[in-house]
Amino acid sequence: MKKQEEYSGVGSIENLRDIFLRQNAGKIFLVTGRKSFEMSGAEIIFKKLSREFEFIQYNDFTENPKYEELEKGIDLFRKSDCDIIVAIGGGSVIDTAKLINILSPQEQKPSVYITGREEVKIKGKHFTAIPTTSGAGSEATHFAVVYMNREKFSLAHEFILPDAVILDPELTFSLSTRITALSGIDAFSQAVESYWSVNSTDASKAFSSEAIKLITGNLQKAVNNPDSESRINMSAAANLAGKAINITKTTAPHAVSYTMTSHYGVPHGQAVSITLADFLVYNFNVTEKDITDKRGVSYVKNTFKDLLNLLGSKTVTEGREKIKQLIKDINLKTSLMDCGISSEEDIRFISENVNTERLGNNPRKLTKEELILILRNNL
Ligand SMILES: [Fe+2]
Repeated sequence: MKKQEEYSGVGSIENLRDIFLRQNAGKIFLVTGRKSFEMSGAEIIFKKLSREFEFIQYNDFTENPKYEELEKGIDLFRKSDCDIIVAIGGGSVIDTAKLINILSPQEQKPSVYITGREEVKIKGKHFTAIPTTSGAGSEATHFAVVYMNREKFSLAHEFILPDAVILDPELTFSLSTRITALSGIDAFSQAVESYWSVNSTDASKAFSSEAIKLITGNLQKAVNNPDSESRINMSAAANLAGKAINITKTTAPHAVSYTMTSHYGVPHGQAVSITLADFLVYNFNVTEKDITDKRGVSYVKNTFKDLLNLLGSKTVTEGREKIKQLIKDINLKTSLMDCGISSEEDIRFISENVNTERLGNNPRKLTKEELILILRNNL
């Protein structure tokens, strides 16, 4: 996969002008969030740049991008005839921009590619991603999520990986407590899941272990008593977790989460973290009979030993408690019941609508019955 042009550190957004000049860009398609664009301080920066460059801004979409909103963006992008594309915002903003950029030049309608009936053939325009949250790590991945009729799809292609990334932690300094918590715990879940994924490599484990260390050391502070150091560390951590899942993709906690988000309105970070501690225990107890990782039981057992070490825990029970405590410390919920998911019917519905593609990356096989048990225990 290609290497990204990467700029990081406080003030690194100043590099944007050089990127525009190098790309010979006169007209730029700018995908932004609604509130985050102003809150992050980005609006002022772009106002200054608009003296030199023309921007067409698109922000007409909600969190967890829907297909209809994507179509609107593609329409506008095609008509606008822009030279390059820039996304500045959280994971949903960057994912939306990725999909607009990659699906606009293709010959057939977007749904054909999203559902995997056709493969993407044409590369989009030069794409710069600038995260304003420390969470999804979308700036570092070659896939993007979109919901069609409440079903989650992830389009993956090497062309989707942003060409340039600006990781300016200053844009995250004014994040609300809640967004810091929700995005930070998403980064944490992604790092942990990547660590135990069947697709892990030495490189991905290096990224995810660094992310886990940074998050356990800084998330609580970034949420409850933020200073620039904790914000800077969280920004780096989220990007590292993104780089890790770019190699491995996510596993069971993400696979189970999408229905909680699309049907019950549970925010992504909350939804992925709610089963993370339980899956730590479940995956830890992998056996010859139910292992899915081709490297074998002893390899996976060693991975979990290392992971528990990273979490500062001696036993899996301690590791489980550590994760639950981290979630509590940042004022998020640790039970499904608290998220409005409480009946046997809800549990059945969630277990019947698991994302099987992401579940395939989990190191231990999971039957519907086992999942029901895990969810029931979580009420
Ligand atoms: Fe995520």
